[in-house]
This record gives sequence, structure tokens and C-alpha cells, in this order.
Amino acid sequence: MKFDVDGKQTTCFFGQAKSFLKDLSQRKKIVLITDEHLYKAHPRLFYSWKTIVLKPGEKYKQQSTIDQIISQLIEMSADRQTMLVGVGGGVITDMTGYVASIYMRGVSVGFIPTSILAMVDASLGGKNGVDVGLYKNLVGTIRQPEFLLYDVSLLKTLPQAEWENGFAEIIKHACIQDPSMFRQLEATPIATWQKKPLLLTDLIRKNVRIKMKIVMSDPYEKNERKWLNFGHTLGHALENMHELSHGKAIAIGMTYASCVSMIYTGFKSVDRIVDLLAKYNLPSFARFELKPVMDILAMDKKKQEGHINYVLLNKIGKPDIQPITTKELSQIFERIQSNL
Ligand SMILES: NC(=O)c1ccc[n+]([C@@H]2O[C@H](COP(=O)([O-])OP(=O)(O)OC[C@H]3O[C@@H](n4cnc5c(N)ncnc54)[C@H](O)[C@@H]3O)[C@@H](O)[C@H]2O)c1
Ligand SMILES: [Zn+2]
Repeated sequence: MKFDVDGKQTTCFFGQAKSFLKDLSQRKKIVLITDEHLYKAHPRLFYSWKTIVLKPGEKYKQQSTIDQIISQLIEMSADRQTMLVGVGGGVITDMTGYVASIYMRGVSVGFIPTSILAMVDASLGGKNGVDVGLYKNLVGTIRQPEFLLYDVSLLKTLPQAEWENGFAEIIKHACIQDPSMFRQLEATPIATWQKKPLLLTDLIRKNVRIKMKIVMSDPYEKNERKWLNFGHTLGHALENMHELSHGKAIAIGMTYASCVSMIYTGFKSVDRIVDLLAKYNLPSFARFELKPVMDILAMDKKKQEGHINYVLLNKIGKPDIQPITTKELSQIFERIQSNL
């Protein structure tokens, strides 16, 4: 699959990472960037390549890690002809993309995403960057990778909780774009995807197409790309307040957004979304403290002239964006919680 974003081409390959890297190295000088979990879980993949191994986790998605990567690149004599290849989850692909866009004012970059979330979301679309303290993704650039290599065999070592996290984004894609994929998810437990690599590859392909179609039509998030924020307004607020994984936070966000949709668009399928989330071991109607959440959302509101552009659903597969005031939202959230 090939995608053209803003005149820059990204090619997606499906195959074996080890042989892909061997072929690539005949044409390019490559440096791999990964984290300790991947390095330990797949030692044969990294054997014989120059590799920068980082500490794993969001905690290390900070500028200080970028500085360490740059020092190691200098030690390795990386130059403008060097290609950086990020092998890992979204933390690694975000940081590799960022370093590639600033090292020597830009070197080429490709990704081998190894988590479901990185495969269907983080490694696609060119956004990259780091957190600054608690501010997530505050600093970064937009730079499209030259290639993505999907090797689903690498997922064998992905922890169960990370599978569930990644499926939250797949459910999001189904909600905003694909009613037939939604039905397929309803009919298929997570264990089936884990046991059937061909079926899983097909699902990943579908999700890559959904995200890239949206990104290509709106690379700078002026219109359609906002749909990808379905469940994320409330989700991000919850993620910042509690020790909650991104997948769980947006699962709650999608549930509340579908309830808000019921009021604003007449959306009728809240139950289907709640049941699907439960099937993938994701939460739905979790209780949260209203005041701090509304304070965070009110900060968002200032950026958008008095209201929040909330991503809603008309029906499964048909998104809609409507301006809603924080006062209205607060009343709706309160009503939902009083019925729990
Ligand atoms: N750039 C974007 O458009 C975009 C979109 C969505 C998310 N993101 C970013 O992505 C990040 C989240 O990505 P993530 O969920 O992949 O997190 P992650 O990179 O932290 O990976 C999750 C955990 O799984 C481990 N892991 C990954 N693949 C593995 C494998 N195959 N085997 C064993 N362990 C493995 C990692 O070491 C880590 O401990 C966040 O920083 C988020 O901001 C970016
Ligand atoms: Zn997300």
C-alpha cells in the first residue's frame, strides 16, 4: 500500500522484519531505535545492526531522551545519508520520527511498529514528538515516514493489556468510519485475532486505510482529521487525572461521547458500543469526579472560542462534530452518572 500525504509518499509493507532490514541495509545506512522490552524479547532482530536501546515507557518520552539519542547518533557517526528506523510501540515511533526531523535538519525515517496501537494509529500520519513534564505531545513536528513495515509475528510478545489498549483505537475507527468492521469486531473475540495472523493482518490493513484516508484528506487537522479524536476529549482529561491507560481512557470517552450523541444527533447504538468495549475487556460507564474533568475541558474551551468541538456519531460509521458548551456537557455527564 502506498499513501501520498502532502506530496510525501509512505509505503506500507507486510512481511518479515528481519529480511526487510537486510534488504534495506543494501541501499541505506541504518540505525535502529528501540526500547529494552523489544530488545530483550526479539534479540535476533537487532543482532548485527547499530541499535540505540531506550528505557521503555511514556515516562521517557521527554526531551532528555531525545538529547541522549542525538549523542549516540553522533558517536555512531550518523550523517545525512543515515536512515533511522523506529522499532517499537508509539513511544518509540513518536521519538524516532521527531529525532529524524531535527537531526542534521532532517534525515529519512521508517517505522516497524510492534504494538497494535502503533500499527493502527501512532506510526501513521506523521505526527511525532515528546511530552514536556505532564503536557502530552507538547513539542514535535509533522514528518511522514518513508515506509512502515508490518510484521505481526512481533506481536507474540505484546502483553495482553497492550492488545486491549490497541483494540480501543480499532473500535474507534469502526465507530467513525466502518459499520461492517464494527460488526466483525462484535463477532470476533480478541483471542481469535491473536490466534489468526492472516485475519489480524487483514484487520490491520483495514485500519491503516481508514486512518490514512482521513490523514490524506486533511493532513493538518482542519476538518476530517478531527474525527480521529472521537472519545479523546474526555479520554485525555481522564488519562491525565488518573493512572489510566490510553485505551481505557478513550473507551470511557467513547461511551460518554455516544451518550452525548444520543441527545444531539439521535444516535441509537450506545448499547452496541458498550457491549463491544466489554467484549474487548475495556471499560465504559466508569464514574469520575466531574469538577476536575470540567476544569481541564474548560481549558480546551478557551482555545475554541467558548465551546468545545465535540466529535459525536450520527450512527455507527457516521461522525459529526458539534460545538457544545462546557456547561451543557457538565449537565449531561452529571445526568449519565446519576443513572449509574
Ligand atoms: N503520533 C501519533 O499520531 C500518535 C497517535 C496515537 C498515540 N501516539 C503515542 O503513542 C504512544 C503509545 O503507544 P503504545 O501504546 O504503543 O505505547 P508504548 O510504546 O509505551 O508500548 C507499550 C508497551 O508495550 C511494549 N511493547 C511494544 N511492542 C511490544 C512487543 N511486540 N513485545 C513486547 N513488548 C512490546 C513497550 O515496550 C511498552 O512497554 C503514546 O506516547 C502516544 O502519545 C501517537
Ligand atoms: Zn488515541
